[in-house]
Amino acid sequence: MATRDSWVSNVGFVLAAIGSAAGLGNIWRFPWLTAGNGGSAFLVVYLLIVVGVGVPGLLAEFVLGRLGRQTPIGALRSLTGSRWGSALGVFNVATALVLLSFYSVVGGWTLRYVLASPSGAYFDQPQQYFGAASHGLEAVGFHLLFLGIVAAIVLFGVSRGIERASKVMLPAVVLLLVGLAGWTAMQPGTDAGYAFYLGFDAEYLAANVTNVVGPAAGQALFTLSLGTGAMLTYASYLDEDVSLPRDTLVIAISNTFIGVLAGLVVIPLLFSQGIDPGQGGPGTLFVALATAFASLPGGSVLATSFFGAVLLAAVTSGINLLETPVGTLVDRLDVSRRRATVLTTLLVAVTGTGLSLAGSAFQFVSGTLADLLLSVGLFGFLAIVGWLLRGEAIAEFRAGAGRFAPLAEPWLLTVGWVLPVVVLFSLTNTLASLAGVSLGLGVRAIVAVVGTTCCRLAVTTRTDDLRDLQRSLRSLR
Ligand code: PFF
Repeated sequence: MATRDSWVSNVGFVLAAIGSAAGLGNIWRFPWLTAGNGGSAFLVVYLLIVVGVGVPGLLAEFVLGRLGRQTPIGALRSLTGSRWGSALGVFNVATALVLLSFYSVVGGWTLRYVLASPSGAYFDQPQQYFGAASHGLEAVGFHLLFLGIVAAIVLFGVSRGIERASKVMLPAVVLLLVGLAGWTAMQPGTDAGYAFYLGFDAEYLAANVTNVVGPAAGQALFTLSLGTGAMLTYASYLDEDVSLPRDTLVIAISNTFIGVLAGLVVIPLLFSQGIDPGQGGPGTLFVALATAFASLPGGSVLATSFFGAVLLAAVTSGINLLETPVGTLVDRLDVSRRRATVLTTLLVAVTGTGLSLAGSAFQFVSGTLADLLLSVGLFGFLAIVGWLLRGEAIAEFRAGAGRFAPLAEPWLLTVGWVLPVVVLFSLTNTLASLAGVSLGLGVRAIVAVVGTTCCRLAVTTRTDDLRDLQRSLRSLR
């Protein structure tokens, strides 16, 4: 087997991971969810979940990747010593494929908006334009084009493709957004938008906290690329001397900064044009922003910069999603990177085309289904780190951790108890609303605590049995 590709530098890894995290989720999903869920109230809950769940969860995924030194299937198989580990890995790779299928469709819409912005082609009829851009063969064509760009980068490998592209694209995204946020601040009529976004409304929060938790948790997982094994894959190309806790903090903080920055552009802009950003959902943001750009001076330059930033951010996330199955084929079947990239790209070309033409299924897959898959994947990672590996995970946390090393024990406790309960709670929320059942807060909390305890007991007892069996076999020999 050829030697595995790896990052040239830790900075390259950090930039690629921030690039993965900061994507359509930050610029397209985050402002629309924030606006639809009470603005600052959502922002506060989301930030708390990012800190309390996202950071330790991301660290768990990194620990698995660096410890396993392989893509999800191989890493989880060898770390658990069980077929259940491979099964979870297969589930992760399938999740990455599902996510990439809809991601590259929205990436395609964005690409089309970038190309149409200099001439302001959609300024006259934003609604009709979006209708045409998001349906039919043209949407399929742009989806394929976007996927082609992502595939071209992945084809070059981890250091020559992903690392290099991230080093250029991510700073460009930040510069564009900072410029746009500065420009937005100078526009008249944005005060109401800032007040809605940044002014803290305790009363609204108290009245709506339970409704806000579900979408805020889903968004926190999605934005940190958690639960697909995509971050695990990136960490599998890392060296032992890198501080995982430090990198995790840098990545989570930078990603949050980019999300908040995007909100500082989108929400005040929409308010300044009298558009309610909470109305309508995913497509409406394209339409509403197009309407705002159309009526602003210099609108076409702004629109080009904005959609340009969205496109670059989408590409740096798309490459992480594609690398997960591609790296898996290279690791597991020892096929060449080129063949693995072509095969996977063809598969996503087909599934994305299906979704692009499927209409209502698209919203379900990119919303509820994505939230479910990510939660189940993350729950599996937490179980392996917090219930099975324990000591090994602590040692991996501490390797290169420097002054963060004393945090290893509290981190493991959080990963083994607090996080699974929170993830199961949000999973119960999503499943209940999917089934149309309304469960009280208390019932959901009980399901989460009892479910976690039962799963933990089942997993640890099984492992303890296995260990006993191994011990008796050894004494027989
Ligand atoms: N974090 C990305 C975003 O916010 O757009 C989405 C994503 C990328 C999710 C990669 C999962 C993943 F593996």
